[in-house]
Amino acid sequence: MRSHYCGELNASNISQEITLCGWVHRRRDHGGVIFLDVRDREGITQVVFDPDRKESFDLADSVRNEYVVKLTGLVRARPAGTVNENMPTGEIEVLGTSFEILNASETPPFQLDSHQSVGEDVRLKNRFIDLRRPEIQERMRFRSKVTSALRNYLDENGFLDIETPILTRATPEGARDYLVPSRTHEGSFFALPQSPQLFKQLLMVSGFDRYYQIAKCFRDEDLRADRQPEFTQVDIETSFMGEKEIMAITETMIKGLFKDLLEVDLGVFPSMPYSEAMEKYGSDKPDLRIPLTMVTVSDLMKEVDFKVFSGPAVDPRGRVAALKVPNGNTLTRKQIDDYTKFVGIYGAKGLAYIKVNNKSDLEEGLQSPIVKFLPVEVRGQLIERLEAQDGDLIFFGADSEKIVNEALGALRCKIGEDLSLYTCEWAPLWVVDFPMFEETSDGGITAIHHPFTAPSCSVEELKADPLKALSQAYDMVLNGTELGGGSVRIHQESMQEAVFELLNISKEEQEEKFGFLLDALKFGAPPHGGLAFGLDRLVMLMTDSSSIRDVIAFPKTQSATCLLTQAPGEVSEKQLKELSIRVRKPITETTS
Ligand code: AMO
Ligand code: AMP
Repeated sequence: MRSHYCGELNASNISQEITLCGWVHRRRDHGGVIFLDVRDREGITQVVFDPDRKESFDLADSVRNEYVVKLTGLVRARPAGTVNENMPTGEIEVLGTSFEILNASETPPFQLDSHQSVGEDVRLKNRFIDLRRPEIQERMRFRSKVTSALRNYLDENGFLDIETPILTRATPEGARDYLVPSRTHEGSFFALPQSPQLFKQLLMVSGFDRYYQIAKCFRDEDLRADRQPEFTQVDIETSFMGEKEIMAITETMIKGLFKDLLEVDLGVFPSMPYSEAMEKYGSDKPDLRIPLTMVTVSDLMKEVDFKVFSGPAVDPRGRVAALKVPNGNTLTRKQIDDYTKFVGIYGAKGLAYIKVNNKSDLEEGLQSPIVKFLPVEVRGQLIERLEAQDGDLIFFGADSEKIVNEALGALRCKIGEDLSLYTCEWAPLWVVDFPMFEETSDGGITAIHHPFTAPSCSVEELKADPLKALSQAYDMVLNGTELGGGSVRIHQESMQEAVFELLNISKEEQEEKFGFLLDALKFGAPPHGGLAFGLDRLVMLMTDSSSIRDVIAFPKTQSATCLLTQAPGEVSEKQLKELSIRVRKPITETTS
């Protein structure tokens, strides 16, 4: 139908007769001349209709925003003084000679360029209109470039794209499953995959050697700005490669992607042990753009006459940590109060601080609500350990290790943002040497990655002290976001059984849930390992989007619904009957 896209016209097309198809972005009537901005995927062009050609003029006059039109005309230079330098097609316009309305449009629920004035719910409900916005079109186009570049890299490196089932059994990745009832097997359910983890391992047992898939994953978990219940992984598995080799090949992939699409050189990714990440940044996904680090001071606080500090300092599960903010002395009382409220979100009961006015005067030079509880030697040791200078401010967290890490870790990021402390635009790293397990609140243990991750030690060592054992797992982190994670897998049945045992998964349960994996490990499973990247998160970071929803064509809301299709929805009694399902309606509470 068309000869050109609207957005591709420029001065080189002057004097050509062209045909465009697209949507009316805006219509203006300038004293008897009609100006239409016509939009398509590639951009916007201004088309002029004058009354000499009455038929097309009258039609053009009758259109409204978002009508679908086709027009033919002559490209000409815009008259002097009307060139629009902000528009790629701003040097030219089209003088319309014929005009056709291909379809009318009702008044859209919101104007594309005033989308900010409506709530996200209105935009998501009318996503087909929202997706017309040039910014979102650009993000979708970018996402397509990302998948294309990743596919190219993986294809060139001998990875085979193999699909794995969506209707399957539960994969333990730590979230709740989405279940699908079976009609043919009354009372039985499929689970949607939380990841293709088990299948990709089976593909290695089958000898495919290198696998990848751009795979949909489903997790029924609490949602945040960077989480969706249905999301996409770039899922990778390899055989006969160790941890370092897998990290190298995937690092090269991500570096190439940034170079090709953003002209950014990410440099060599540093590796940081999990223990160091938690100690210095309170997080297993540290944002290394921010130059602040946490420092443990528990040993200095054991004897002080301040229970808030000495309690956690002597508790093996406690931690007292300090976070120095260089030149933070300028923070106002109100700012400190706001930060105290902020850390409260993470369970911190307060936020002690010291303003270092004059470090050589340990009696009078430190300004703080708690300094009176600290002996002068402790004050001196603190200043020394933190290398504090006059003008600095030191925050303290004292509580369980978990609360201190979460609270001060989050505070570190917040202060970094508030005070614009970023030292670079991109800070990638690998976090390695994760523990195999962590303790649950009921005293049991749970796998930090998934239970197929290989430990760095023998079966005997693992059994002797499971909480001390490290795993061969690795996460790729960029700017404080976990982009991807993976591990070398267990490829021997004895080790897999030992891990299941430690996780208190009974023989029967092992057989029932993972019998097929244990069987496969008996028949010549090669050493193997892999990793999965969160594609949505990757695109979100690369496009500097504030929400994961902005890079997904049809995302779900924070409460895991689709406003466009109104899913999830109720189903008919007939369908339920076929599935042998009876819905128990929630009991509505009555107040007496
Ligand atoms: P993991 O659970 O770490 O590992 O997931 C891999 C990556 O997927 C992304 N991701 C998500 N993105 C959006 N919304 C979510 N709800 C969500 N959950 C995870 C993250 C994460 O780093 N099978 C293993 C991988 C392996 O071991 O090979 C796995 O799924 O970016
Ligand atoms: P309080 O003894 O509660 O008046 O607290 C004295 C100072 O210690 C205040 O600045 C509190 O914000 C701070 N504080 C209280 N509890 C904690 C804690 N668990 N960690 C860090 N600072 C705290």
